[in-house]
Amino acid sequence: MTVHIGAEVGQIAETVLMPGDPLRAKWAAETFLDGAECVNQVRGMLGFTGTWKGNRVTIQGSGMGMPSLSIYANELITTYGAQTLIRIGSCGGMQPQVGIRDVIIAMTATTLTSPSSAILREVNFAPCADWSLLSAAVAAAQARDVPTHVGGIYSSDVFYAERADLDEQMVRHGILGVEMEAAELYILAARHGRRALAILTVSDHLQTGEALPSGDRERSFGDMVEIALEAAFPDT
Ligand code: HPA
Repeated sequence: MTVHIGAEVGQIAETVLMPGDPLRAKWAAETFLDGAECVNQVRGMLGFTGTWKGNRVTIQGSGMGMPSLSIYANELITTYGAQTLIRIGSCGGMQPQVGIRDVIIAMTATTLTSPSSAILREVNFAPCADWSLLSAAVAAAQARDVPTHVGGIYSSDVFYAERADLDEQMVRHGILGVEMEAAELYILAARHGRRALAILTVSDHLQTGEALPSGDRERSFGDMVEIALEAAFPDT
């Protein structure tokens, strides 16, 4: 047990999928895993462990924002020995070629700051996805015929951003989409020698103002869960 996760050591798999929303963790576990068991309910941040095609997998909510994800990822890594951590979440599109429902696979995640900034101090660290996961996820997405973009994203600290100039610089530098968690996940994985990836569905678009209707979100989320599982277990 840790401060925020009630599971016993051994109840968490080496491969962990991390949606922001705990109810998405429940839905994904019930939909895609065999024998899913609830292993965490602390603060309602649900986590489930089961198997996918015989491979053990945990799906654990991360909450929203880097400070929340950082708590769960730290505890998953240091107490439970998680080796592979894949964020599955939503993001806002930032480029004209990025459409609603498209999938973005993040090679890297730019931030202004993250919980790790206190450790990195003056270092402008470049958070980076694990190549084996990234390449397997791209192959899985292409095989499913899902429009997919691979590149940099922006991990913001605010959903209700009021710095239009910042967004402008992100767009100008080719950032594909904005979310709030991936950079810290990549930095923690780097620090502890683990594998990490963020796979995102575009749920809204900053320039066009379009948003995914709530009924469509489940279908898009399902594609992403399957891409994540196929990336984690490419030989299955
Ligand atoms: N901003 C930040 N995070 C997000 C967004 C957004 O527009 N959409 C989905 N996650």
